[in-house]
Amino acid sequence: LPDAQVIVVSNREPYIHNIKGNGVELLVPASGLVSALEPITRACSGTWIAYGGGTADRLMVDENDRVQVPPGNPSYALRRVWLTEEEHQGYYLGFANEGLWPLCHIAFTRPVFRASDWEAYEAVNRKFADTVVAEARNERPIVLVQDYHFALLPRMIRERLPEAIVITFWHIPWPNSEVYSICPWRERILEGLLGSSIIGFHTQFHANNFTESVDRFLESRIERADAAISYGGQTTLVHAYPISIEWPAELLAKLPDVDQCRGRVRDRFELPADVKLCVGVERLDYTKGILDRFHALDELFTRHPEWIGKLVFLQIAAPSRGTLPAYRQLHDECHRYAEELNQRFGSEGYKPVIMVAEHHSQEQVYEIYRAADIGMVTSLHDGMNLVAKEFVAARDDEQGVLLLSTFAGASRELLEALIVNPYDAAMMSEALQQALIMSPDEQRERMRPMREMVRNNNVYRWAGSMLLDAARLRKRGDLDRV
Ligand code: G6P
Repeated sequence: LPDAQVIVVSNREPYIHNIKGNGVELLVPASGLVSALEPITRACSGTWIAYGGGTADRLMVDENDRVQVPPGNPSYALRRVWLTEEEHQGYYLGFANEGLWPLCHIAFTRPVFRASDWEAYEAVNRKFADTVVAEARNERPIVLVQDYHFALLPRMIRERLPEAIVITFWHIPWPNSEVYSICPWRERILEGLLGSSIIGFHTQFHANNFTESVDRFLESRIERADAAISYGGQTTLVHAYPISIEWPAELLAKLPDVDQCRGRVRDRFELPADVKLCVGVERLDYTKGILDRFHALDELFTRHPEWIGKLVFLQIAAPSRGTLPAYRQLHDECHRYAEELNQRFGSEGYKPVIMVAEHHSQEQVYEIYRAADIGMVTSLHDGMNLVAKEFVAARDDEQGVLLLSTFAGASRELLEALIVNPYDAAMMSEALQQALIMSPDEQRERMRPMREMVRNNNVYRWAGSMLLDAARLRKRGDLDRV
């Protein structure tokens, strides 16, 4: 596909401009989607269409609502789409994040489905379809549609640009058809997605769940051997493409060595010199199992009191979707539990849990990964989870232990991690104990193959394999036309 124009569509923009004092501050959002797609868009000088939600975003665009990014070294155009307050409420906070997000993550948070949210969702998908058509330079662009904010967009694009290649990637899990069936618009969502040439999931399991949902709710033809679904005259490939990160060679070269990182992080958080440091880094989201992690720590201190005074748990929790009740409640519960643990197990100069509910830059996050003895990823359910991959990539000293939830897609690839069930506090506390006493040799033996895995299967390979499948499809289509 040498000359094809690549258009990425996501809700979240890769660079947010916010007003700060008399100036403008640039923020890279905490989003696995953004960290994965940004290097790809840079590499193919594509166009990225996204919602512009920053307070200074409107000041930064030209007359076509575009801004060239990354700042300082522009290599692609970010086309911003403006949403009204009502659209943002209904489409993003409502249908996407109170409906689809809990529906797809089996985290036992009840999904909320409101007809008005669905209408806003449909209207915003149409708005993005208009923008894709406006940005397309010819009839045959490659459009990379990202995530659950845009289930209806693939079909809308297909209707207006029939020759386009539409590759849709669903970054979150897909539930089994029984769970999925509660969505009042289940057929419409499937029809919308089947406007895609390819639909990608992180794991084969989620791809299978999707195919089963189609089988149950639509009259379609499913060719299981080819992983293809034909519906309404369109064939869609449904595959697993495990997402990854850009190998951070440049960033690691810039960062201080591990010992210095340990010193800096320990100074910043005023940690006693001899304590072990366990870290969690994510958005403050109920799918991440943050409270379950606190339970495990509680259990550890009860079962192995020798660690009281010797272990600090640092939780970096980037604020996220904070106007939704489920997120406000989680925020309060996390702070309450952290405080309780500090009261029960803390002492003069020693706070076992430190919660920092602030946004951190990529450099800051890597510095924290490098300073840690243990990295904890305990998602109750997660598509992939790139924090797990970042943590191992950060450890060029081949030290540090990763505790990883069996319910994160990453556990299918990072086999040498200590794999845990976040619902089982006793098991997690024993895994913590194992991590705390693990010898440097064993840490190295586990870390080395995980780093190799992430280095080889980086995000360029992820995008490459989807584009290769798309090229094959286009070739087959062109041959069919001859
Ligand atoms: C998850 C979703 C992404 C989203 C990110 C951050 O990783 O799959 O689509 O961008 O969370 O959430 P936010 O709502 O802030 O974009």
